[in-house]
Amino acid sequence: MQFDEILKKTEYTESNKPNLKDYESAYNSFDWNDDGYSRLEWLSDGGLNNAYESIDKHVAKGFGDKLSMIWIGKNGEEEKYTYSDFKEESDKFAQVMIKLGMEKGDRVFIFMDRLPELYFAAMGILKAGGIIAPLFSAFGPDPVKDRMLDAGATYLITSPDLRNKISSIIPDIKTLKNIVVINKDNRQKESLVKGDLDYYELMKKVKSSEFSIVNTSQYDFAIMHYTSGSTGKPKGVLHRHQAVVQQLLTGHWALDLRPGDMYFCTADPGWVTGTSYGMIAPWTNGVTQIIYEGGFGASAWYEIIEKYKVDVWYTAPTAIRLLMRAGEDVVKKYDLSSLRFIGSVGEPLNPEAVVWGNRNYKMPIHDNWWQTETGAIMCANFSSNKIKPGSMGKPIPGVTMGILDDEYNEIETDKSGILAVRPGWPSQMYAYWQQDEMYNSRFKKGWYITGDQASCDKEGYFWFQGRADDVINTAGHLVGPFEVESALIEHPAVAEAGVIGKPDPIAMEIVKAFVTLNPDYEQTNDLRRELIRFAREKLSAGVAPREIDFLDTMPKTRSGKIMRRLLKARELGEPEGDISTLEDD
Ligand code: PRX
Repeated sequence: MQFDEILKKTEYTESNKPNLKDYESAYNSFDWNDDGYSRLEWLSDGGLNNAYESIDKHVAKGFGDKLSMIWIGKNGEEEKYTYSDFKEESDKFAQVMIKLGMEKGDRVFIFMDRLPELYFAAMGILKAGGIIAPLFSAFGPDPVKDRMLDAGATYLITSPDLRNKISSIIPDIKTLKNIVVINKDNRQKESLVKGDLDYYELMKKVKSSEFSIVNTSQYDFAIMHYTSGSTGKPKGVLHRHQAVVQQLLTGHWALDLRPGDMYFCTADPGWVTGTSYGMIAPWTNGVTQIIYEGGFGASAWYEIIEKYKVDVWYTAPTAIRLLMRAGEDVVKKYDLSSLRFIGSVGEPLNPEAVVWGNRNYKMPIHDNWWQTETGAIMCANFSSNKIKPGSMGKPIPGVTMGILDDEYNEIETDKSGILAVRPGWPSQMYAYWQQDEMYNSRFKKGWYITGDQASCDKEGYFWFQGRADDVINTAGHLVGPFEVESALIEHPAVAEAGVIGKPDPIAMEIVKAFVTLNPDYEQTNDLRRELIRFAREKLSAGVAPREIDFLDTMPKTRSGKIMRRLLKARELGEPEGDISTLEDD
């Protein structure tokens, strides 16, 4: 199908109109016929479905025998699935969900480690018209509860241990109809909680291995991810099936994916990189994906690249800094010559990392920039571009990015300002779930305001400068200070809490909290440790503060808002700036 035909199917409002000409020429110039199995297809009735584009399309075109996924378990297990196997498993799970009564638009939460069944379930839910809302499996009960309550979750797909971890909050989710539990290989001893459903039992009962995809259009909702802001609880970012257009294209343009490639993305599907580039972009491009259940490990990762001859590797700056720390000798033990392209996202990639990559991997690491809200890569160092170490590259075709002053007017090159994007790119978020005001506040004078500060040089390369808000980026994961503050003040000792990001050489920032105590509590090291433990249990180790300082009084504005900016300036020994609104002690 040519791009103009795709456009005819697409309705855009004036404020949501992509610069379609650019997409059109780019899409049509893509040599889709050389390998035949990567182009975008539509459902026979004119609909569009991410799961069809990712999996079924390849089977329909005769590539069902190609490998879609190689799963490497944390105990050394290995499982291989062709596109046909994947289609069958996801078709079956789609039927399970329909049988359970799932309706189009239902929010189905997936709270799981990286197991093959997570991916079968996700694709099955999409085929059956549901919205997948994946959650990071390290989360504690509080973040899970906040997100499921906010979204009105109707189903939860999880594993016995994780179900157990959050059992206290389950009765609070009144909208929840069923919990489907996956106990892969009976790894876990927990028995099924009364009322929960066993995944394998449900799958066994499905008679047909074929499912006819529910009629989804490009406007139907597909994926929801929660992201943090400076204020309030995280917001549900809602994406539509049409995001697949940009995910497919950027998979090819920005990550250089080609059908048949071996691809290794280290991101977890609990975060947007793990769905856009850990599911949709790679599979729509017809690659074989390595899904590694384990976490970071220099030797483990290199071993995977060597053993499976990985062509394209997509990872994050914190991981790259850890690899640098693991040293050059470890790299030399492995044959990494299969690598053709390395990409990085989520945080600024330091120029030294690019240089280090050049020396050790014999190729540069290509930084690219995007957000949960953008749904797909917006700005990238393409394989064809000259790389300027430290820059996040240039906008993808069809995307216009700008640097604005405080009045939202464009400013000159080389000057730092607000990073903004012209609305209308195909994978643009549709909404913050039930938070229209917040959504609208992100659009000013015809621009989408990203929340980042950046500059653009004369050659059109963008340079990240920092966040414009209080959101903390720790190891590539955004943490909203409000969420951490809310957890801390639930402890009886804590009167007030202010949370900031403190610079860190590896994780970029760590979460640091300042607290004042209620009367009768003393500022002791034991209490400090107790508060960290308390927050870890509620939130997760990654989100909880790594450091806590006690204060006698909390700096606040006269209207009572905690001045995080001031806490940060004091922590860093920087000038305190304008403190005219500071409340008198
Ligand atoms: O601040 C920017 C940072 O991560 C934010 C987006 O985070 P999230 O919505 O969780 O999406 C993660 C998937 C990309 C951005 O607003 N960020 C992302 N990429 C880069 C970056 N900061 C600097 N350089 C990057 N390449």
